[in-house]
Amino acid sequence: MSIEVRKLGDALLAEVVGVDISKPLPEEARKDVYQAFLDNVVLVFRDQPLTAAGMVQFAESFGRLEPHITKKYNHPEFDQLIVLTNQNEKGEVDPFESKRGNKWHTDMCYREVPARATSLHTLQIPDAGGDTLFANMYRALEAMPASLRSRLEGRKATFRYGGRAADGQARLEKNEQQAPLVAHPIVKPHTDTRRHSVFVNPAHTVGVVGMDDGEALELLEETYAWCMRPEFRARHKWRFGDTVIWDNRCAWHKATGDNPLRQPRRFLRATVADN
Ligand SMILES: [Fe+2]
Repeated sequence: MSIEVRKLGDALLAEVVGVDISKPLPEEARKDVYQAFLDNVVLVFRDQPLTAAGMVQFAESFGRLEPHITKKYNHPEFDQLIVLTNQNEKGEVDPFESKRGNKWHTDMCYREVPARATSLHTLQIPDAGGDTLFANMYRALEAMPASLRSRLEGRKATFRYGGRAADGQARLEKNEQQAPLVAHPIVKPHTDTRRHSVFVNPAHTVGVVGMDDGEALELLEETYAWCMRPEFRARHKWRFGDTVIWDNRCAWHKATGDNPLRQPRRFLRATVADN
């Protein structure tokens, strides 16, 4: 390997050193980074501030970029990027924006083809709090009691942006509200590794195909409680100059949303398509 990979968590998360991500990656390094991404699920590159163009180039080394379902966060110059922020248009810290992403979820799971990866690059981080948590859904499945796993195997779940709560959210844009439900296997094979993982999540899953609401909710709640166990998790504390990329096919993530100082938190975000 032309790069060094340092594990940061037992369940997932590793730091990659020895690669300059502000420049196009040589093919050998790109392959090694992609393998480290498959092996560790979440990668962090530290102390490398990127321009917006640099972020596009870095994220594109993992695949084709796709725009987010919401248009209002688009980057002014690069429509492949969004600016993820807890600030409103006036630059004030907004409680609604601060709550975004605080539930365990995977990005773009409400699309026919869920995202391969999401990458965040720090623009501005608070002095304390505002961490991101990750959970390894391969591990959650592999350690799951057989009695629970057997109830999930062969089943499909339905997804919508915002999940069950979406109908009541007045602040959702029209394209978010009108998006049709999509179905995915609850136990889903990874498109690169073919390993299976749990694919449902508390933020965007609506129900289970062929089950009534009560039965589906009970099964989903039991599954979430299992998947949230601490042994499947890692926490990333952001430092300025960090770029993180994670595999949406086999990991949950959430913002801790515990920024006590109400300070701005801003990232460049790119989403890598899986086709
Ligand atoms: Fe997210």
